[in-house]
Amino acid sequence: MLATVLYGCAEPGSTFPEWGQRPLEVEIGPGRGGFALDYAALHPSRLLIAIETRKADCELIRARAARRGLGNLDVFQGDAKLLLPRMFSSGALSGVHIQFPDPWWKTRHHKRRMVDVEFALLLRRLLKAGGVVDFRTDVPAYFREAVQTWLEAGFEQLPDAAPNVLSTRERRYAITGQPVFRARFGNPEGDVRPIKSDRTGRDWRDVRRK
Ligand SMILES: C[S@@+](CC[C@H](N)C(=O)[O-])C[C@H]1O[C@@H](n2cnc3c(N)ncnc32)[C@H](O)[C@@H]1O
Repeated sequence: MLATVLYGCAEPGSTFPEWGQRPLEVEIGPGRGGFALDYAALHPSRLLIAIETRKADCELIRARAARRGLGNLDVFQGDAKLLLPRMFSSGALSGVHIQFPDPWWKTRHHKRRMVDVEFALLLRRLLKAGGVVDFRTDVPAYFREAVQTWLEAGFEQLPDAAPNVLSTRERRYAITGQPVFRARFGNPEGDVRPIKSDRTGRDWRDVRRK
């Protein structure tokens, strides 16, 4: 508690907000919130927490959520990799949505890519058994690498299912016809142990689309 007062942010694993009894889900990088807003409206019994680095997007989503009277969507500004282990205890989450994470094309930016084995293991720990990762991207190499990463971390791939809510970007692609690669993964029962892996998330390359 003292650390919270002195430094403003709890250490990972030390103290967590009280989220209540509703099934708790997270969207990482909601952008302008097309998915978050409609998903929260469609599932009023769930609590959706969106974590977004861009302040303007956070404010936009909050304003739209307030206009729509959504009491089950909350938005936090910050880096999801830093916030997740500080906001949620082990097994707290029922679902995590990661849609069109930035590809970070430049070599010097590869270290910013969201999906790597360490991140996948963090999500395995934060998700309850049976919790689901909903992953979508428009970059084929990111998709191939991420699928292997989720599997290597111990997730189980679920059967394909058409999404019932599209993200802001996905709505654009639904009109232009640009392909979207989607997969969902279930968190199996059992302890999560560190694994030795060469999968850094930094090695994949693809053709950059403008
Ligand atoms: C390509 S946009 C996709 C937005 C939205 N998911 C969609 O499909 O329309 C990626 C979003 O992730 C956010 N983002 C990037 N890194 C992040 C991080 N470490 N934590 C939280 N959000 C992040 C960006 O600010 C941006 O809004």
